[in-house]
Amino acid sequence: MTPAPALLEFRGYRLGFRIDGQVCELIDDLSFSIRAGSVLGVVGESGCGKSMTALSVLRLLPQAAAVMGGEILFGGRDLLAQSESEMERIRGRDISMVFQEPMTSLNPVHSVGRQIGEVLRIHRPGMGPDERRAATIDLLRQVGIANPEQRHDQFPHQLSGGMRQRIMIAIAVACRPQLLMADEPTTALDATIQAQVLALMQDIKEQTEGSIMLITHNLGVVAETCDEVVIMYAGRVVESGSAEDIFDRPQHPYTQGLLASLPSLAGSSGDLHSIPGSVPSIGNFGPGCRFAPRCAQARDVCTRDVPRLTSIGTGHQVACWAVGQEVTP
Ligand SMILES: Nc1ncnc2c1ncn2[C@@H]1O[C@H](COP(=O)(O)OP(=O)(O)OP(=O)(O)O)[C@@H](O)[C@H]1O
Ligand code: SF4
Ligand SMILES: [Mg+2]
Repeated sequence: MTPAPALLEFRGYRLGFRIDGQVCELIDDLSFSIRAGSVLGVVGESGCGKSMTALSVLRLLPQAAAVMGGEILFGGRDLLAQSESEMERIRGRDISMVFQEPMTSLNPVHSVGRQIGEVLRIHRPGMGPDERRAATIDLLRQVGIANPEQRHDQFPHQLSGGMRQRIMIAIAVACRPQLLMADEPTTALDATIQAQVLALMQDIKEQTEGSIMLITHNLGVVAETCDEVVIMYAGRVVESGSAEDIFDRPQHPYTQGLLASLPSLAGSSGDLHSIPGSVPSIGNFGPGCRFAPRCAQARDVCTRDVPRLTSIGTGHQVACWAVGQEVTP
């Protein structure tokens, strides 16, 4: 069977931030793709650039950010080359995002129904108010909110955290986007609600035949939900492949460290915490492998030259001098 075409593809994307009058690079040569109909997990510790990757797709980066090169292709079109008005059409209609802080993403002064309906008003201008209300109530029902007619007119503070997260998902999927990006969508939720929210996203993906980019610290969540995985470290992809490649045949020392920090995928909370050391901050990356200060296998070449992503099997890529690379003398 031929693999589905890429829906979204990063090609050599580079992003920096303006700090004290100069641009410091964070994301370097980011290249990966999401196939139509699949769920891709983006994993890495705090500060590795996961959210900035997703925000780059929607071109909703902080003011200090500066795109330094590359392409982000969506259905073959470079999003970086689209006009702002075209991006406004794409956001919410073709690509949407559940943001990392759901509580701050909802507007406290508008009812949740109005906030869901707003997306329909913008992207489905043919819908009248009654039809829009009915569609909004239907969305509330689809995301598992009981008494949707009553909830429609309530404000965010009248809902629990789990319900607000569902409202965020309802907003994101209102127009059945081809790509849903979810940034730590379950971190703030307890385990039961977490499982329900993930199941809900999967259901919606099946219904819309879309793709999901799931950003998470939690490898347990990735093991349960993702087809493909991208491991990011300090702004670079260090390993990517199918979920089987990553969980059964991890090659990069960072991926191995993340997996080793899980006592058991089934029994643990799945959070990443126990690789010694921490992610270097922007502006403090060495010239070679950014993981070198924390890597037990580091050698001279590692601190000198950047290891680039190299294919080591169908769809499985690793960026490490100790894995499938020619060492320059
Ligand atoms: N306004 C800014 N000025 C300078 N650097 C910034 C700014 N905003 C973000 N950064 C850089 O981006 C990094 C954070 O990237 P990002 O938010 O994508 O990380 P993340 O992987 O999503 O982390 P987390 O898991 O904590 O959400 C920071 O460590 C910093 O280097
Ligand atoms: S390139 Fe070197 S320092 Fe980086 S992960 Fe591989 S062995 Fe470790
Ligand atoms: Mg983040």
